[in-house]
Formats: sequence, structure tokens, C-alpha cells
Amino acid sequence: MPELELPERQATDTQMLTGFWYRALPADRVHRNRLHKATLLEIPLVIGRDRLGQPFALRDACPHRGMPLNTGQFDGENLECPYHGWQFDVHNGQCQLIPSLTSDQTLKVDRIYAGSYPCEEQDTFIWVYIPDPGPQGAGFTKPSEAPDGAPRIEKFSAKCKLAYLQAEMPVSIDHGIIGLMDPAHGPFVHQAWWWRSRHSIHEKKKNFEPIPNGFRMSAHTPSSNSAPYKLLRLCADADAITTTIDFVLPNVRTETIRAGKYWFSSLTTVTPITRSHCRIDVVAAWNLFRWLPFGPELLKFVFAKFVEQDRRTMEMQAEGLKHNPHLLLIDDADRPAKWYFQLKAAHLEAKRTGAEMKHPMSGPVTLKWRS
Ligand code: FES
Ligand SMILES: [Fe+2]
Repeated sequence: MPELELPERQATDTQMLTGFWYRALPADRVHRNRLHKATLLEIPLVIGRDRLGQPFALRDACPHRGMPLNTGQFDGENLECPYHGWQFDVHNGQCQLIPSLTSDQTLKVDRIYAGSYPCEEQDTFIWVYIPDPGPQGAGFTKPSEAPDGAPRIEKFSAKCKLAYLQAEMPVSIDHGIIGLMDPAHGPFVHQAWWWRSRHSIHEKKKNFEPIPNGFRMSAHTPSSNSAPYKLLRLCADADAITTTIDFVLPNVRTETIRAGKYWFSSLTTVTPITRSHCRIDVVAAWNLFRWLPFGPELLKFVFAKFVEQDRRTMEMQAEGLKHNPHLLLIDDADRPAKWYFQLKAAHLEAKRTGAEMKHPMSGPVTLKWRS
């Protein structure tokens, strides 16, 4: 007799992973010689651009007595705290001046640092690297270096369009991520006459494979029952449209759709702002519809609608989550969510022990669900 399958109970831990790049702000909102506030993983940040337009990110708290630095004076190079006028180099946080020191006082000013973070501009966003918390030594901690660059969108031709959109979700990073990769909510949350109705629910079978730090839904032909894909097939005059979807820790989902010489690529992140809030940022690049004047608007409209439907759903979900911290995850529809929790646990375990990360998937898997 087959074993009775019971759903698995899963507790979310709201733990936010350090040692990764995170999207902080859309690049077009960060102006030269101006200071902007942002929060990542509950860390308050002040973000800006120097005189040459290079972005920077500092901890938004003066190492002297905690004054938020975003209220200070910025001359395009150094940031001056509004409380006692200490000045810091915005790119490495090093203290440049302490006005209260007399000429015979020998305090080594340059050994003092305001927290500073590696910062990069990539595909319409300012990214900030959040390192693992170092030994306590506030005020004397030199900036850490990122081991690699911020994630980039894959582009398959030089000419393409790029657009972003974002939505704040009042749920923890875990709920934001599993909501993003959950295949079963589509027919209920994402109904629209031009996309699908709940009656279009049908059985699906998809292949998944392990990739470093994540998993991939192997290249497949997207479901043919939706208008945009029909349109794409018509425009691209290609028999085979294939799409590949990857998820990698800590929070990155990439999707690539290729149809002949046309392609569409997106990099979506769920960013932990606080333990109970996250933000979804979708950045898409494409070379389809470039000849259509309303192409970008059309795509943005479709995406905005999806993201808004997800946001509203999570807003309602947050109400329920206040009372019940446990989840029931079922096979196969919630298997990606299970993998996410397993990957996260394996990552943390590898960090703790210093051993190589043990991937929770041993090989390719086929999942079936109805959606
Ligand atoms: S608090 Fe910033 S200089 Fe004193
Ligand atoms: Fe969704």
C-alpha cells in the first residue's frame, strides 16, 4: 500500500542572507550631489552619487554618536555629519576631518570609518553588497570587498529595451520568494481576459535540474493558451518558443524567452527590507516589439498588472500570517518552495562549517501540477 502523503510543515525563519548583492534603489532616482535613504536587511543606508556620477552607499549612522548621515552636507566627495561636522570620504567611509580636534591632539582621524558598502550600478539599479557581519569594531571597520560583481541581465543582442518596475510587499523575504516561484496561484490570482481564466487550469509537467546555489526549470515551450505567447509566436514567426527559468540564492529569479531572433529576458529579485517587509523588483530587457511604438508600454502594463495582483494577494496574506507562522507545503506544486528552504539551510550550514554547500537536489526531477 502506498504511503499516505502528508503535507510538510515548514516554519519560516525570516533570516536574511548576508554576503550577497542586493538591489537598493532604481538608478534613475539617485541624483548627483543628493543623498537618498534606503534600507536593506534592516540596515539603514544613505546612497548617493559623487561629482562624477559614481554611486556610493554608507551606513546611515555616524560612527561618532549615531546621527543619520543623510541629513548631512555633501560636497560631491565628502559627507559632513550635521551634529559635530566630522567628514567622511563617501567611497570608503574613511574619516577625513574632526573639527573639534586642536592642533596638539594626536587622534588618528584616518583610522575611523563610517560603515561603507560596495556599490554598483547595473541594469537600471543601484546594487549594494551586504557583507557578513564582521567582528564588533564599529567605527574602525574598513570597508569589505565584494567577491564578485552584481548580477546582470542576460542580453542576446546589443540593441534592446530595458524597463523596471517594483512593488513593496508587507511579508518576510521567505514569503516573497515562495510567492514568486509558486506555480499554483496563477489561475486564481492572475486572471485576465487576455491571459487566462481560472477554467483554463490544466495539468503541467516540467523538468527541473540543480544549478549552483539554485535550480532551473529546464528549457521548455511555454503554455500556448495565453494571448501574449500567441502574439509572440506570430511576430517572431518561430515554431519553437522556449523559456528557461532559474532561481538562485539569495533572491534572484531569471527568465529567458527566445523565439528565433527575438528574445526577452528578466531578472527579478525579492529584497529583504526588514524582517517583515520585502520588495519585488522586476527588470526586463527585450528586443521584441521594438518596432511597435507602444511595445514597452504594453509589456510594462502586462507586468505591472501581474506584480500588482501578487502585491494585493500578499497584503491579504500578511493579515493571516500574523496568526499562524507555520505553512503546509505539498508535492509537487510546492516543491520549488521546499527547495528554496533547503537551499537556504544548506547555504547557512556550509557557512557555519566552512565545508562545501550540499545541494538539496541530487539530479534532474520532473514535477507535475495543475495550474
Ligand atoms: S554624531 Fe556625527 S559628528 Fe558627532
Ligand atoms: Fe504571481
